[in-house]
Amino acid sequence: MNTPLRALRLGVNVDHVATLRQARGTRYPDPVEAALVAVAAGADSITVHLREDRRHIQDHDVLRLIPRCPAPVNLEMAVTEAMVAFALRTRPRYVCLVPEKREEKTTEGGLDVAGHFAAVRSACQQLGDAGIEVALFIDPEARQLEAAARSGAPHLEIHTGRYCEAGDDAAVAGELAQIRAFAEVAAERFEIHAGHGLTVDNVGPIAAIPEIVELNIGHAIVARSVFLGLPAAVAEMRRKMLEVRHSR
Ligand code: PXP
Repeated sequence: MNTPLRALRLGVNVDHVATLRQARGTRYPDPVEAALVAVAAGADSITVHLREDRRHIQDHDVLRLIPRCPAPVNLEMAVTEAMVAFALRTRPRYVCLVPEKREEKTTEGGLDVAGHFAAVRSACQQLGDAGIEVALFIDPEARQLEAAARSGAPHLEIHTGRYCEAGDDAAVAGELAQIRAFAEVAAERFEIHAGHGLTVDNVGPIAAIPEIVELNIGHAIVARSVFLGLPAAVAEMRRKMLEVRHSR
């Protein structure tokens, strides 16, 4: 029997609007303005990653975004005392805990919840007590799921990077099978999100997984917006996600 169809939300990540601004040290383009345009074009939430090295999003972006954004804001952040304090001060609706290394180009691999259990559980507890809904960004692996189940987080975001980077059809099928199986089991106790590396060309099979209710997508939408404009790039991604969802 098919799992009943749940709505699929699109969270638009505007980090790379800030990347363009930071490349020149200008005041434009403004990621907050981009967030407002993305919401008007159909984004269900806005994601920003405040990295330790502040390479794109800055503290003032988050401070301006949260009160102005008509859709919920999802703050991606490392599991550090400084970031937990920042989230408790700024109060985004959601926090997604991610691993972070200064030297990486982008987030590589999921959070090792099992390996950093005490710190993750403490962050989940402090943020949860403040009414902030926490997601853990993890690879689709049983060991991480078992640790996540003891962390107190209500949501999981499945890292889709390995699926997106898989080199041939067999590797893609293997990664997809792992994500599908993980989502089915994990949905028994978590709300399931997914993201990283998704594009209009590869989003379909992930959007078709019925347990996944939210996709967070940034780089590909901002890149497409160079050619289409941001409203059309957001609309195009929504169309691609939802057409597979409704054709089941
Ligand atoms: N979800 C998480 C947890 C991420 O760290 C990122 C990258 O910042 C994304 C989703 C979006 O990835 P992309 O920019 O490749 O769409």
